[in-house]
Amino acid sequence: MNLTDTKDKEILHSILSTIDEGIHAVDAKGVTIFYNHVAAKLDGVEGEEVLGKHVLDVFPSLTVETSTLLKVIHTKQPIHNQHQSYHNIRGVLIDTVNTTLPIMVNGEIVGAVEIAKDLTKIKQLSEKLLDLQAKVEPGISQPHPAKGESGAKYQLIDIITNDLSFKQLKEKAAKVAQTSSPILVYGETGTGKELFVQAIHNASPRRSAPFIAQNCAAIPSSLLEGILFGTSKGSYTGATDRPGLFEIANGGTLFLDEINSMPLDIQAKLLRVLENGLIRRVGGTKENPVNVRIIAAMNEPAEKCIEEKTLRSDLYFRLNVVNLNIPPLRERKGDIALLAEHFIRKYNFQFGKLVTQISDDVLDLFQDYSWPGNVRELEHAIESAMNIMDGHTISIEHVPQHIAGSGGTSNRVHLKPLREALMETERNLITEALRKTDGNIQQAAKLLNIPRQTLQYKLTKINAEN
Ligand SMILES: Nc1ncnc2c1ncn2[C@@H]1O[C@H](COP(=O)(O)OP(=O)(O)OP(=O)(O)O)[C@@H](O)[C@H]1O
Ligand SMILES: [Mg+2]
Repeated sequence: MNLTDTKDKEILHSILSTIDEGIHAVDAKGVTIFYNHVAAKLDGVEGEEVLGKHVLDVFPSLTVETSTLLKVIHTKQPIHNQHQSYHNIRGVLIDTVNTTLPIMVNGEIVGAVEIAKDLTKIKQLSEKLLDLQAKVEPGISQPHPAKGESGAKYQLIDIITNDLSFKQLKEKAAKVAQTSSPILVYGETGTGKELFVQAIHNASPRRSAPFIAQNCAAIPSSLLEGILFGTSKGSYTGATDRPGLFEIANGGTLFLDEINSMPLDIQAKLLRVLENGLIRRVGGTKENPVNVRIIAAMNEPAEKCIEEKTLRSDLYFRLNVVNLNIPPLRERKGDIALLAEHFIRKYNFQFGKLVTQISDDVLDLFQDYSWPGNVRELEHAIESAMNIMDGHTISIEHVPQHIAGSGGTSNRVHLKPLREALMETERNLITEALRKTDGNIQQAAKLLNIPRQTLQYKLTKINAEN
């Protein structure tokens, strides 16, 4: 064996031993050649018990047909993202998502490797969440739940604006609240999507029925289907009968946030529910009618999502029957001062302070700033300032540095240390060059007329500062 081979092997071994996924590799006969400690933990065995032995000898509950490793050796076809729920040798219920791949050398199968992602904790958490939601949302069976008990706390009057087109948007929201058509809400992060969605629910005839919100990006895609539609006993080993969010939200509103993170096959299933009003639990045979208003939201434009194939166009057309496009804060600058005052009142109350005004140069700065985080960012800026100030007036030194240093273009003369200013200019130029070249360092360096290595070095430095 040559030296680099051994070294490569060592490196590979230590990488595979430290990652968070379980890894189990067998040779063409089914004898284990690699087994990391995560895999051992999932299976409830010691690594030594498995290494060098045939899988069927170590895991007596498996057969040639049920072992995915042996199956892949037989078929030479990979199996991707298969959800498995099983009791391991120690009786512990384990949930994993497995990918099993054939190992081919010169067209010959020499073994197979299985990569298992542990979802046990996430699954337990999501089920706990479902149980809790089922408990606090007894559905329409409860005669008159108190106001606000539905899970939505905001009303339309909580949406603060002085902007004419934003006021029209509020009027539109009040109107569409009366029907049950699906709604698609689009707005950049922090523009108030959730605020609008909750307010619509509370202005609707469904106000005393459940309001359930689910962020589609927050749950591993392999679990999302069961969470939304429920599961039926036996749909996979270990699955129990449980209702999904559609059933829990029955009579009310289901808010699907970041719908473009929902896997496309689940989007297709959602479209069917929207079309026929029937849901079928995962693994179930019966279809049950549900009466749920769907509101979906995204913080990226639909056209972009369709083009990038994260949103099905047929689902988009169905959802977009009613749409609400919430403009970013920089397009309604008239609201900045009004919202700032609103948040000052809020934090005066929370912090027991008596802030009464914002200095003119801060207001100028706020007008010039682009607010990429929109209203949420403005709220955080006020909260942050009110944490560190003592007097009655918010002035420049209380404003978070990334806003204060953003360099507005108004008549303010805002001096800062030369070194800092130069570095900031450099950072902005680099960001701009990378944006123009889609992140291509070689081309960006050319644009900036500096060697690629220099740009690389500067980038490393910038990243270290952040
Ligand atoms: N017009 C408004 N009036 C008062 N508060 C607002 C307004 N718009 C947004 N907010 C507040 O800003 C914060 C962010 O709003 P929200 O959570 O609805 O944003 P979002 O669009 O859902 O953001 P994300 O895409 O990041 O989820 C909340 O605290 C909300 O109460
Ligand atoms: Mg939101």
